[in-house]
Amino acid sequence: MTETLNLRDFEAIARGRMDAGAFAYYSGGAGDEHTLRENEAAFARRWFRPRMLVDVSRINKSVTLLGERVRMPVGVAPTAQHRLAHPDGEAATARAAAAAGVMFCASTSSSLALEEIAAAAGPLRWFQFYTQDNAGPRSESLLRRAEAAGYRAIVLTVDLAVSGRRERELREGFDLGSLAFGNFAGPVVADDAPATGLRLQDEPSAFTWNDLAWLRARTTLPLVLKGILTAEDARLAVEHGAAAVWVSNHGARQLDRSPASIDVLEEIVAAVAGRAEVYMDGGIRRGIDVATALALGARAVFLGRPVLWALAADGEAGVARALSMMATELRETMALLGAASVGEITRGHVT
Ligand code: FNR
Repeated sequence: MTETLNLRDFEAIARGRMDAGAFAYYSGGAGDEHTLRENEAAFARRWFRPRMLVDVSRINKSVTLLGERVRMPVGVAPTAQHRLAHPDGEAATARAAAAAGVMFCASTSSSLALEEIAAAAGPLRWFQFYTQDNAGPRSESLLRRAEAAGYRAIVLTVDLAVSGRRERELREGFDLGSLAFGNFAGPVVADDAPATGLRLQDEPSAFTWNDLAWLRARTTLPLVLKGILTAEDARLAVEHGAAAVWVSNHGARQLDRSPASIDVLEEIVAAVAGRAEVYMDGGIRRGIDVATALALGARAVFLGRPVLWALAADGEAGVARALSMMATELRETMALLGAASVGEITRGHVT
């Protein structure tokens, strides 16, 4: 493999290895990609206030997520279709995450079935859930399977009221609907018709806050709401029983000109007021980005595209290398900031 020194280096390798349509699907953002640029640009506007002469001879990066100990506060975000990157698909990604001791979140839209992913994954696994027929039997069956396969939380993605339009993949003629989705027996379907395929959210959804009661009655697993961007919705999430709020604009793939996740993190942390855990994703590429998000109140962050690029570059070994680079960068960042543990990273470390 061409020498990789940081997470961004995997993208160029992936571009060379992947089919152009699949690369466009992974890399693209919605509309004019204002949010895609902003997810990273917003980090570059934050600067550190590093503290000196702190004993950082023993750095501890570990935290708990919903009661489970992870080796670092950086996990693998749910992303669809890992077989577009590598034939081993999510099994490779999940194995690398397990070896690194980080949280792995499997997507409803995975290439492999959630049971196959569970067999490859370690105990640190969550299931990302897209409703299939709103509060209907097909959704219920997916929840039952996730619970039976030992996933430890349900991550309901709330920012896909309708699928975002990403023009890069349209220009390449990429057709998501033509792929096999491991969790579903039949071909992809475009609406709620009784069918066995994955439902792409081509029509706007009717699922609302009121339907969360349905969801909570059908699983005993903790519920994480992914895709929250305002204090108002963060409060509603807590009031509806969310154990965690995941600040995200879906990697800029849904509503263009949604704010960068890092720019709304603080207002959401304040609104949640310790009643739930708060995570974020979007534009995390460096250990300094992780430290910035932790300083602004996130308990953990998640990686979307960087993991896919690493998977395309070198399968399980690529993802293992990406996670290890991230661990090294975070460790160095904490040492230079003067924080020996995650709890010692404070608001005062960032301007
Ligand atoms: C995603 N994301 C996503 N989210 C989700 O809840 N379910 C899914 O199936 C997918 N699928 C998906 C596919 C691809 C190709 C990408 C790039 C993203 C969003 C993902 O979980 C996460 O929010 C973002 O990817 C984070 O931003 P970065 O790290 O890619 O900048």
